[in-house]
Amino acid sequence: MAVVRAPLCFLLFVLVILYPLAIAFHLPHENPQGPAAHRGKFSNIARRSVTLDLKRNPNYNPNGPAEYARALRKWGAEVPQQLVHSLAAMGDPGGKTGEVDAESIKNDREYLSRVGFGTPLQWLNMDLDTGSADVWVYSTETQPEVAKYHTLWKMEESSTAKKVENGSWMITYGDGSAAWGNIYHDTVSLASITIPNATVESALSAAPPLAGDPDLDGIFGLSYGLPSLTTPPQQTLLSALLPHLESPLFTVDLHHHSSHKPSSYTFGTIPASHHTGHAPLHYTRLIPQAQYWQFAYRGIHVEGQEEWYINPLFNAIADTGTTLMLLSRPTAELYYGSVPGAWRNYTLGGIWTFPCSGYKLPDFEIGLVADIGGVEEAVIAVPGRYMNYSAFTDGTGTCMGGLQEWGYDEFGIFGDVFLKAVYAVFDVGAARIGFAQKVLEPEV
Ligand SMILES: *[C@@H]1O[C@H](CO)[C@@H](O)[C@H](O)[C@H]1NC(C)=O
Ligand SMILES: *[C@@H]1O[C@H](CO)[C@@H](O)[C@H](O)[C@H]1NC(C)=O
Ligand SMILES: *[C@@H]1O[C@H](CO)[C@@H](O)[C@H](O)[C@H]1NC(C)=O
Ligand SMILES: *[C@@H]1O[C@H](CO)[C@@H](O)[C@H](O)[C@H]1NC(C)=O
Repeated sequence: MAVVRAPLCFLLFVLVILYPLAIAFHLPHENPQGPAAHRGKFSNIARRSVTLDLKRNPNYNPNGPAEYARALRKWGAEVPQQLVHSLAAMGDPGGKTGEVDAESIKNDREYLSRVGFGTPLQWLNMDLDTGSADVWVYSTETQPEVAKYHTLWKMEESSTAKKVENGSWMITYGDGSAAWGNIYHDTVSLASITIPNATVESALSAAPPLAGDPDLDGIFGLSYGLPSLTTPPQQTLLSALLPHLESPLFTVDLHHHSSHKPSSYTFGTIPASHHTGHAPLHYTRLIPQAQYWQFAYRGIHVEGQEEWYINPLFNAIADTGTTLMLLSRPTAELYYGSVPGAWRNYTLGGIWTFPCSGYKLPDFEIGLVADIGGVEEAVIAVPGRYMNYSAFTDGTGTCMGGLQEWGYDEFGIFGDVFLKAVYAVFDVGAARIGFAQKVLEPEV
């Protein structure tokens, strides 16, 4: 049964949820460049499917508070001042100066994919991000202080790069930071799929939260239905990619750091080998006019508690580009109510922490909305050990939770902590998202 939204709820939803997102992303009301708009024009393209293995970042060094700040910025929420101060205080003591340096040590990302740009192909480490729609890279145009941390796209060495005259792009965040630059058309290669004349956004500069990650050379947005933040409007890479795919979908299979399995994205098919052994896929429709991979869910349950918490307003975005789960305060309180000795650290802006040892964290369960067609409601369990995001290295034996709270009522971000527990299908063609509970490796 689908969730019924009363008009008042819908209005609240628009005001409370879409308005802050609009600030963060200039969310437009129309979607002229959306995936559907470009299908059917490319009948002579060979349709294929490919799998892209994601490399684990060898420099990965989880810094929970920095991930929390990054997620809040990305989604336009205010970053608490105490957290900003604490992060600055945690900066590398090794004599480096400036925000870029401090952040660069701590903000490393866990998953990176090689993507080729230009002719001949130049390979860059990209963050495949289902929570944004632009594909942007650091380049030889990038301001030197920012560029020195990254492998750069050299458009002048690509015989197929063409600048879009007077074109520009800009991403702004809730805290006023931004990335911006010029627009080009060039060849982009994802595994062995080559997309000619794709939109590539070249960064002139980027503010520290974005610029500070030295292992990442750009962001590869794969958001649903969201136009790119370009003037004039450009086709998104996802819509340019669709005609090349056997089926208009991609799958995401992320693995926890305790696992030795490689994480991967597959474009164009759901490989049978990938979901043998897993529970069946359960599909949920995206919310009407979705501009992200946004869907409603029915309820949550914490292992060991008697009751489910059901709320008709629950909805979330599946975002591979966010590490943590960000949910409402009541949800976080419900979960951490079952974690012995859990507390909010106000020095870190209210981050949920708990003693690292002495017990097993409870599983966190999400009840999905029943699929259209009457398939039974499904439950996804995020195992307790995934809810333990990282240990602080200050010798206090304190750990930080993978679920954190924010101020957006029942609108949430399901980041990698959730996605590692599932096999996920991002089905552009059918405007739905599928999850299968994954058979997870035993704890090591
Ligand atoms: C670009 O902008 C300049 C100055 O505003 C203008 O003269 C030129 O015609 C524009 N070019 C295009 C292709 O729009
Ligand atoms: C590349 O795409 C743009 C629009 O996105 C179009 O104006 C241009 O003609 C295309 N160039 C080629 C070589 O296909
Ligand atoms: C909060 O976090 C800071 C920084 O990691 C730490 O120094 C402090 O001891 C923590 N406080 C509590 C009450 O956990
Ligand atoms: C949480 O993870 C840390 C390692 O990051 C581990 O040392 C600790 O025992 C774990 N605690 C719980 C309660 O799972």
